[in-house]
Amino acid sequence: MAVKPILIAPDPRLKRVASAVEKVDDSVRQLITDMFDTLRATGNGVALASTQIGDLRRVVVFDLGEHNPDPSVKMPLAMVNPEITALDDAEWQVVEEGCLSVPNLYMSVERPFKVTVQYLDEQGDKQEITVGGNWLASCIQHEINHLDGILFPEKLSRVQQMRAWKKYQKLRKQGAQINYKVEESDSHIL
Ligand code: NI
Repeated sequence: MAVKPILIAPDPRLKRVASAVEKVDDSVRQLITDMFDTLRATGNGVALASTQIGDLRRVVVFDLGEHNPDPSVKMPLAMVNPEITALDDAEWQVVEEGCLSVPNLYMSVERPFKVTVQYLDEQGDKQEITVGGNWLASCIQHEINHLDGILFPEKLSRVQQMRAWKKYQKLRKQGAQINYKVEESDSHIL
């Protein structure tokens, strides 16, 4: 069991873009195991991207448990090199999002309603799923954004984004509680 510390904003390492995994080998499977251990240790987290623990291999994991809104998607789920191959942006949905790397901040984020994702599973086999009309679709987009160095407040309008970071800064100053292991960078000014 390896619970890794989770990087929290404004850590510049969260802004790095992760690279594709060339081969799904034991070291990648170990990363997946560590990510599930880390995710479960948070208590209330449902998904995690490799960049959140400072690893730059493109991996995301999900464990929505009883909250899974789409029973056709089996949990827990690990995706290596996930890629959105179709995004239905004819319809958008608003979901209240939070993030283990932006603790205690919750904001409503509008994202396309339906996504198709291709990825490699833990055996290195190619898989594809389509998810639409529920918050898992937003969750998948949120996690893949992490691999490209994008945090969820950046998906808000400019004004809302400023409001979000201000709110977050205030929460940090107030010392809002975080119930899992985090790693803070030296810079704390947003
Ligand atoms: Ni997140």
